[in-house]
Amino acid sequence: MSTPLKRRPSYTVHDGFRMPMGFPVQGFASGLGYRPHSSDIFVCTYPKCGTTWMQYIVYLIVSKGKPLAAGESLTDVFPHLEEVGAEAVEALPEPRLIKTHLPYRLTPQRHEAKYVCVARNPFDCAVSFFHHTRGFVRHYDFADGTFDDFFECFIAGEVDFGDYFEHLVSWYRRNEEDNVLFVTYEDMQADVERIIVEVGGFLGGAARAVTGDPRLRGLIRAESSFDSMRREQRRWSSERPAGMPDFVRKGVVGDWKSHFSAQQARRLLDAFFEKTGGEGAYHLWPEVIAEALAFSRT
Ligand code: A3P
Repeated sequence: MSTPLKRRPSYTVHDGFRMPMGFPVQGFASGLGYRPHSSDIFVCTYPKCGTTWMQYIVYLIVSKGKPLAAGESLTDVFPHLEEVGAEAVEALPEPRLIKTHLPYRLTPQRHEAKYVCVARNPFDCAVSFFHHTRGFVRHYDFADGTFDDFFECFIAGEVDFGDYFEHLVSWYRRNEEDNVLFVTYEDMQADVERIIVEVGGFLGGAARAVTGDPRLRGLIRAESSFDSMRREQRRWSSERPAGMPDFVRKGVVGDWKSHFSAQQARRLLDAFFEKTGGEGAYHLWPEVIAEALAFSRT
């Protein structure tokens, strides 16, 4: 049973697709029509699932361990396709590094291009997305919104970039394809060095050599660590009003328990089961499911 909504975030809606306010509709339309180059590397995620972390790992692999220079920001070297549009992406040097939050059906495809997907369990994603939505006042006008209000929008798929489950299932189904690498945020948390090697192997060529080198691998790991990225906040995000959580916020698995009610946990579990048919993606996070089940009975 859902609770009545007191407050909703505001969005820009284009063709039924919600985006943060201020994202130009032309950027979205032209981004969808982008024709990928064979050397393109996409990082494909639902919001708040470890996008920036994976982007920086990919960037560091491609740059052979060289961090962003002073004054550079990840947003510029690794832009968001449906925000900046096709032309801006076409102007990037090769290999073009491209971020997208689009579900598979809307993501520009090319067989030779590479698609690195990161998924995160829906419980922690919802909490992280709530803080993000509260924090970016100019994008959502939701500074005084509550988790309960956000939860209703999240579970209904009425948030920017659409339904969490549609995104998850659409990419999970592709994980056997040779141009798609599908990993989870929780895998990255458990053993990031293994994931760095996996990404290098997937990208192939020089990237494989870079991640096969223990010194470079250690460097990439250190540069992309939570503490290092937290120190360099301004490279990933800006304009957060005082008192709002940082963009690189907590970076943990399991924070959801401090926000969810037992009933919300039950409802999200049910939605997860129904929208995945209880198969495939539903089994990505068995520990979280077990915890959520136990929590829902408290
Ligand atoms: P929390 O809000 O749970 O802390 P995205 O980049 O897709 O917006 O994802 C943001 C989430 O990834 C935030 O989660 C953020 O703290 C976490 N994150 C960002 N950089 C990280 C890193 N280097 N290590 C671990 N988590 C990181």
